[in-house]
This record gives sequence, C-alpha cells and structure tokens, in this order.
Amino acid sequence: MREKLVVGNWKMNGGLATNAELLARLASEWTPGDARKLVVCVPAPYLAQAQAALSASAVMWGVQDVSEHAAGAYTGEIAAGMAVEFGCRYAIVGHSERRRLHGETDGVVGAKALAALGRGLTPIACVGETLDERERGATDAVVTRQLDALIEALGARMRGCVVAYEPVWAIGTGRTASPEQAQAVHAVLRSRLAGAGAGDVGLLYGGSVKGSNAAALFAMSDIDGALVGGASLDADEFLTIARA
Ligand code: PGA
Repeated sequence: MREKLVVGNWKMNGGLATNAELLARLASEWTPGDARKLVVCVPAPYLAQAQAALSASAVMWGVQDVSEHAAGAYTGEIAAGMAVEFGCRYAIVGHSERRRLHGETDGVVGAKALAALGRGLTPIACVGETLDERERGATDAVVTRQLDALIEALGARMRGCVVAYEPVWAIGTGRTASPEQAQAVHAVLRSRLAGAGAGDVGLLYGGSVKGSNAAALFAMSDIDGALVGGASLDADEFLTIARA
C-alpha cells in the first residue's frame, strides 16, 4: 500500500520554547483518524523533547540524516540506532542540502538508507534536479540516476523506503513546481520503482509546499504526500497542508 505522509523537515531551526508550542499544537490537533500520517523531522538535540511531547499522540518523529556507520570515530554523526532509542520512525537521507553542502554522493545516500533500514527506520530518500539541470532538459536523467543508485544499494529492501522528489530550484525559494511538473517526474520515478518491484513506495513532493498549494499537488495521481520545510515551522500552515 502506498504510504500517505506529510513530513515536516525543520532543518536547523527551533529552540526549546518554540518547539514546545509547535509540538503541543500538533499533538493536540492531529487526530489518529486522519487518512495521512504526520511526521516531524527535528534537529537531533530535540529528539528527547519530540519524544516526550508526541509519544501519546498520533504524530510521529524522525531525524534529518543518519550516518552510514553503526558506531565509532565519526565526530558529529548520528547513528540510526541512536535515533531509534528516541522513538524515531523515519530518517531523511540524501536531502539536497546534504548532497550539496556535505558532498554526499549517490553511493553515500544508498549506504545511509541501508543503515536506517537496518535499524527499523523508514528512510525518506530525496532526489531532485538543480535549475541548471532542468534547463538543460536533464531532469529525468538526474532523478533516474539518483533513484537507480538507491535501488541498486537496497535491492528488495527498496520497498521499505519512502522517496521524496524535491527539485532543488523549488526548495526554500517560494517557487513550487506546478502540480503537472511534479506529477511528470513522479510518473518517471513510479515507473522506475515499479520495474524494481517497488511500485507501491510512497512518493512525496517537496519544495515550497504551503497550505495554499498542497491540495492541487495531492490531487496528482502519483503524489502521495509532501516533505515540507519552511511551512512545517508554523502549526497552522503545517496542519493545513496535512489536511489538504
Ligand atoms: P521548503 O523545503 O518547503 O522550505 O521549500 C523543503 C525541503 O527542503 O525539504
């Protein structure tokens, strides 16, 4: 079954006081009966806070990255097993900011997804093209290369993943892909996944998703939900997206 998810990616934002307000609102206003799952991926220092605030609610939480390694001399890294100790269910891997700012290759992203799965976390693996790549007509080739690397690394375990299509030019820019543009790429990803026996993987769209554009995106046949950055920091906006 295709997992329907709305995932908040707080990125490097938050503080104990503002988190407490936001988490309390999500916990009290998101009801388990809702058709979608709601997830927040918080900065690692706030995992204990998220766990305490959300444990009795229908909202789930996760991390924004995990190490490909289980333990050892990897200063600053977080192991999948550590995230699990704090009740995480999801781990974003291969976000374009990690790929760009931290030099994460397709190979590293595959290894991270595998590390997450190995500890029972669902990886939310991100793919997406830059503006330059889109303008050169390379969108399909880029996302296919990124997805194929993941499929190669995970094999049959690909079915345990969620994939997020996030065009880099739409992230934090206020410039959302149109529903048709997003659907066109999702269809490419879906057929590739189907070819690998993973056609029922949840496919999220990310990039300037807001309360005002979420419903049109969710109406597309291959869009199963959203990965939301900026708008996930505002309870009203995030809940509007989740209910769209
Ligand atoms: P945005 O970020 O919603 O702020 O564009 C999305 C993301 O990077 O996951």
